[in-house]
Amino acid sequence: MTQTTESFSVSVANVRKAYGTTTALDDVSLTVQAGEFLTLLGPSGCGKTTLLNLIAGFVQPDQGSICIDGESVNELPPYRRSIGMVFQHYALFPHMSVADNVGFGLKMHQVPKSEIAVRVKAALEMVRLGQLGERRPRELSGGQQQRIALARALVINPKVVLLDEPFSAIDKNLRAEMQVELKQIQQRLGITTIFVTHDQSEALSLSDRIAVMSNGQIEQLSAPADLYRHPASSFVASFIGDINRFPCVIKARTETTCTVAMADTLLTLPITHPALSIGAAALLFIRPEELTLVPSHSDAANLGTGQVDTHVYQGTHVDVYVRFADARVLRVRHPGWQATSLFALGQAVGVQANLQQAFIFPAR
Ligand SMILES: Nc1ncnc2c1ncn2[C@@H]1O[C@H](COP(=O)(O)OP(=O)(O)OP(=O)(O)O)[C@@H](O)[C@H]1O
Ligand SMILES: [Mg+2]
Repeated sequence: MTQTTESFSVSVANVRKAYGTTTALDDVSLTVQAGEFLTLLGPSGCGKTTLLNLIAGFVQPDQGSICIDGESVNELPPYRRSIGMVFQHYALFPHMSVADNVGFGLKMHQVPKSEIAVRVKAALEMVRLGQLGERRPRELSGGQQQRIALARALVINPKVVLLDEPFSAIDKNLRAEMQVELKQIQQRLGITTIFVTHDQSEALSLSDRIAVMSNGQIEQLSAPADLYRHPASSFVASFIGDINRFPCVIKARTETTCTVAMADTLLTLPITHPALSIGAAALLFIRPEELTLVPSHSDAANLGTGQVDTHVYQGTHVDVYVRFADARVLRVRHPGWQATSLFALGQAVGVQANLQQAFIFPAR
């Protein structure tokens, strides 16, 4: 398998799909650039697999169109869309050897036997399983089976590859290794890739862009760092990364800032959503790394003072949970390992927030 010289875009326009009374996709539009690694991220049941199946042609939309390289594929059956797919469950044929599994699509396309052998060998080598062609799927580990599924998707030289939670059944260390491998293969081939996961750290580490989905809709489509730093809704803020969340009330606002009351504290911070009116209930979000522990009577303690409740040691940092008198608990991320000795359990501490990096959204 050689470097792909050509990459293809995928666009989905105003797609709807319902199963009986369940709306699986609700007016979804999305363009995946040629050569891009785009991830669909969202909780179980939000419509990720349905969207992949629509692009692959296994499911027909009730409405809307799907184009590959600018050409509508709505009328094309799956095998004519030139898509390689890795399914949520490996779906290898148990009675066939590994090599026959990988070569199956080529055989269906009536590629000559000698060429199949060469392409299967190259695909197996790409996923580092060149020696295992004669085995049956049951004689392989879960990680190896998933590599075979990837080889089977790539061997047809597809225009686009779709991967549905390919690593969900694989343990953490192997998963990290396979993520790196997948990314390297994808970059080497320059192949347009749509990847599904409900694991936000997997999405953040692999993707050029991420579409965060909820209830059959795309909530936000952005580069990983933009999603993390500029979430567009309280759903995205809650779903991506660790975050503290507090109810508050809008007390005042200007063009660019608003002042909110949180318990008995007044805070002024940048506006991050257009629909914030005075008197409205809102939600304030702030990441644990944007909070700092300061002496309990320090003027810097803009969020107030509480007591150290718990330490959670995480290797590179310690998460310190601080309980306030009104029972709110804040998670403060302290770099390094010293927080456990610097801040004793029960000790009074002040909490300082970097409000420039806080997010505020209307309460739903
Ligand atoms: N064949 C089907 N018949 C009826 N309902 C379906 C069918 N396929 C999916 N659904 C429903 O459509 C919605 C979206 O399902 P989908 O499989 O796309 O979710 P998902 O985001 O892939 O979830 P998961 O992370 O659990 O795989 C769910 O409510 C699901 O129950
Ligand atoms: Mg799914």
